[in-house]
Amino acid sequence: MTGVEVARTVAGLRSRLDAERAAGKTVGLVPTMGCLHAGHASLIDAATGNDLTVVSLFVNPLQFAPDEDLADYPGDSEADLEVCTLHGADLLFSPSVEEMYPGTGVPEVEVGDLAARYEGASRPTHFGGVATAVSRLFKVVGACRAYFGEKDFQQLAVVRQMVAEHSIPVEVIGCPTVREHDGLALSSRNVYLTAPERGEAPVLYRALQVGAAVVEGGETDPGAVVSLMAEVVGSAATGELDYAAVVDPATFETPTRITGAGVRLLVACRFGRARLIDNMAAVPA
Ligand code: PAJ
Repeated sequence: MTGVEVARTVAGLRSRLDAERAAGKTVGLVPTMGCLHAGHASLIDAATGNDLTVVSLFVNPLQFAPDEDLADYPGDSEADLEVCTLHGADLLFSPSVEEMYPGTGVPEVEVGDLAARYEGASRPTHFGGVATAVSRLFKVVGACRAYFGEKDFQQLAVVRQMVAEHSIPVEVIGCPTVREHDGLALSSRNVYLTAPERGEAPVLYRALQVGAAVVEGGETDPGAVVSLMAEVVGSAATGELDYAAVVDPATFETPTRITGAGVRLLVACRFGRARLIDNMAAVPA
């Protein structure tokens, strides 16, 4: 097993990628904030369908609000290197904040209405920060396929919109959510859960399953589906529901009626220190 090559500078990464692309090689990019788990690994696996797989590891300060967990965001770079190597990544891009943001570090990408809803409403500066980091990465890496998890479905939609609006030469590929055996979506923030919270956290997945089942069974009223999902999440004593929603998967607007094309179900819930999100497709049978 050969180790993954580490690039810490934009110039270093660029020169390596330019040479590969000049030789006709395709590049797969997996943007991450480290603390890699099986969810990230599934994106790396998908990206290795390209000739060269780049994983970026950058804990992006712009996407954390001042009261959030930037200072103690979980990280373990040795373990991250191992995951990258095991899953066949070729390059790990791990820049400093100064290297990523040599200017003022002010969010520079406009995100529209889509980014103001749900996660954007709970975390108003979040998607501007995400879009700025991802846009920087796309500029640095250049033409590539970029892999994002459906776990962060709104983030995936914001990135897709940014790429379309700015004609960025990147093909965005969404990958399915990887879950624990009891349905809890893998997340770096699951380490914050206490044992009782961890026991109850799969309620998010169960709520989504119940919601998807009633949509499949013919329920067309988004309000009824939301109430059901909220009721299921409400059964967890350690959880506090932030939102349950039924949305159009592209715009994140709530339709008046659920039609044949289907919808995306969203839930966000706080369990102690951890704020967890999850989502699922729901399509009428
Ligand atoms: P991070 O939370 O590290 O996630 C990196 C990628 O892994 C994202 O595309 C995310 O959706 C995906 N991912 C996380 N958990 C997953 C799971 N259980 N199954 C499948 N994919 C999963 O998301 C970010 O970092 C940042 O916002 C970033 C895009 C890197 C910009 O800073």
